Amino acid sequence: MNRGDICHRLTAAELLDGLGTRRVGRQVIVLPEVNSTNSYALDRLTVEQGAAADGWAVFAEHQTGGRGRLGRSWHSPRGAGLLFTVLLCAGPDRPAPARLVMAAAVAVATGIERSTLVTPVIRWPNDIHAGGKKLAGILVEVRPLTESRWATAVGIGVNCLQHEGHFPPELRGRATSLDLESAQPVDRTAVARAMLRELDVLWSAEPDVSDDDLAAAWKARSADLGARVTLTAEGRTFTGRIADVHPQAGLLLQLDTGARREFDPSKTTRR
Ligand code: BTN
Repeated sequence: MNRGDICHRLTAAELLDGLGTRRVGRQVIVLPEVNSTNSYALDRLTVEQGAAADGWAVFAEHQTGGRGRLGRSWHSPRGAGLLFTVLLCAGPDRPAPARLVMAAAVAVATGIERSTLVTPVIRWPNDIHAGGKKLAGILVEVRPLTESRWATAVGIGVNCLQHEGHFPPELRGRATSLDLESAQPVDRTAVARAMLRELDVLWSAEPDVSDDDLAAAWKARSADLGARVTLTAEGRTFTGRIADVHPQAGLLLQLDTGARREFDPSKTTRR
């Protein structure tokens, strides 16, 4: 599937070896197959481990029911991608999904850049692109753990070894992989470790990385500011230029009508 057709399997031991993170990847589980790493983390780990599962990372070589945003599916041939979920069991404040998606996007883009020859860009709300095509996506799901704690599954899917024929017909020409974008062989373990480290930088910082610093890191990796976009929310379509993106407020669109409007990433589709 990659150059030489040898797919090196992920192992927890290699992912953890000298990882050196404080929170993210405290435990790493690698499953040969699961319906969805997000579902496994929320349904199984939080039940078995509760808040002790904070920072655990679940990887799968194959998902039978991989999920994307807005009810879509996430397809990846066995062993071709990085499919993983980091579980965060936060304190009493319900985490802002927009902030988590922005942090994850910065970490995924930075981790890929540090471990490959690819320089990805972030496309609001949750996409990582390379060469103008989708390389990775992020799905954040939040559930109550107890009356005062929340479990958040931050699911990340990165296309690593796919070639054009591996993508479903509707994605051909619109999706890409690290192997397609890179002049050197892709080491999935190295990419995964780099992303876990970058996630840990953002999620074990004390005090928390400020919203302004996170927004600045996000903007440094995105070409979105000022871009002309069409968004759909609440059954209506809006066209304008992206004026700002913020971890709490979401996306601020300068509409063609002259008005400004905020968009919540979890309720917005971008064309
Ligand atoms: C999107 O672009 O719509 C988000 C895709 C997120 C896919 C990942 S793969 C690992 C985790 N488990 C899932 O079922 N989905 C996420």
